[in-house]
Amino acid sequence: MAGNKSPSHEENLDPTDWESMRALGHRMVDDVVEYLKTIRDRPAWRHAPSSIREHFSGSAPLDPQSPEDVYQEFYDYILPWPTGNIHPRFWGWVFGTGTILGAFAEMLSATMNTGAACGLSYNSANYVEVQVLDWLKDIIGFPASASGVLTTGCSEANLIGLAVARNTKAGYDLRREGIRTASRKMVLYASEEIHSSVQKAIEILGLGSKALHTIPVDENFRIDLQALTESITRDRKDGLYPLCVVGAAGTTNTGAVDDLEALADICQKENLWFHVDGAFGAWAAIAPGVRAQVKGMERADSLAFDLHKWMYMPYEIGCVLVQHEDDHRKTFCLTADYLAHGEGQRGMSGQDIPYLEDYGIQLSRGFRALKAWISFKEHGVAKYGRMIQQNIDQTNYLVGLINSTLELELMAPANLNVVCFRYVNPELDDDTLDKLNKQIVIELQEEGKAIPSTTKIRGRDVIHIANTNHRTRRKDFDILVREVIRLGRTLSQSLSRH
Ligand SMILES: Cc1ncc(COP(=O)(O)O)c(C=O)c1O
Repeated sequence: MAGNKSPSHEENLDPTDWESMRALGHRMVDDVVEYLKTIRDRPAWRHAPSSIREHFSGSAPLDPQSPEDVYQEFYDYILPWPTGNIHPRFWGWVFGTGTILGAFAEMLSATMNTGAACGLSYNSANYVEVQVLDWLKDIIGFPASASGVLTTGCSEANLIGLAVARNTKAGYDLRREGIRTASRKMVLYASEEIHSSVQKAIEILGLGSKALHTIPVDENFRIDLQALTESITRDRKDGLYPLCVVGAAGTTNTGAVDDLEALADICQKENLWFHVDGAFGAWAAIAPGVRAQVKGMERADSLAFDLHKWMYMPYEIGCVLVQHEDDHRKTFCLTADYLAHGEGQRGMSGQDIPYLEDYGIQLSRGFRALKAWISFKEHGVAKYGRMIQQNIDQTNYLVGLINSTLELELMAPANLNVVCFRYVNPELDDDTLDKLNKQIVIELQEEGKAIPSTTKIRGRDVIHIANTNHRTRRKDFDILVREVIRLGRTLSQSLSRH
């Protein structure tokens, strides 16, 4: 037993044979480079057979296996069955694609295994994260004095932004007294197209989903500004406490960008917090053709966005920026004795840069900043801007194909990189077309030809494309259109027979 070990038998988890581990590492690098290089030759997605699902059962291994065997198991049973978002014809939901150097960066940060904050400001991981945050503020148009933190994704970033909004605007010491003592019910506003993570955040913050007053959208799926101001006035009269407006820089359904300048004005006039969910759309800020659309975003009190979607970095990495550092820190700073820091310049807990867990939920934090730092250096901001513009141009190309095909119908104005459309057949009613289009998407996915998703636009089921894919070529959209028409024709026949 462990207690009987003599010092000469003490163990660690390093390899007993470093050279064979080095060889295995080289093999892994060779395999993943080959895998990504040839990604286009494989189906976009395949349903893993039940034998794969069954493989992942049984209890935890008591005895060791060789690293080579474990890797072989990964190679045979895990690697061939990804979600597929690395494939050039994957455009479902809103997924990112990743890059090979981004993947290597994950290995480098795991090697250092730096807990990126942990009360210790003197380490290179923190310097890198602070520099990445400075770059992001500069790119997005936030002042250098703003605060920020890298997050797991935009859901967490929305939660952090809205927590700061709630605590700052509550008008009493909400951290201490809790939500129960609020004299009036707090309410937040967003368009009915806002992402579900905003509602989730509001629920987690103890405000209840009823606190989210959703506002109708105009014909371009942007928040109706008049309805918003009327709602704020009405709620005040009814004794509620308007707290915050959440603007969308790119909705998931249609890519619509709210009039952010107008929302900033309304928030200023009404003394409300202005939060923007810019999960992917915030990056319109660097695309030459569309940057004007997100004007006003830089006036947000807090802004949430991702780098793992439209900046093509491997999961997970998002960010929240807060205009006034003080608001941000006051919501999250909590220093136990064992985390004391910043009491001088010496020792590991001395402080010369912000202490990053003062700005978010996590204490132990991975070094996710490294993949951002490496990726920005590898490609440069200008190329990212071109890639984002390229995705938008490709999306416009798809819209052109849809508009010139009688059997296809555009179902919403195409904003940024998002297109909603459906296959139509004059002999089929809307309910049957709903079924047909959902079926087309299922068939496309199962055949692995292309991966759109579905959503509802004004009550109708549609095919949803969000192009955040740096591997996509225009010809991929030719294939999509060809396949949708093929399936639409075949499935129409069977549906009209029933
Ligand atoms: C507009 C919008 N906001 C927030 C999110 C949530 O982001 P994440 O998946 O990074 O948590 C998404 C995800 O697609 C989104 O599209």
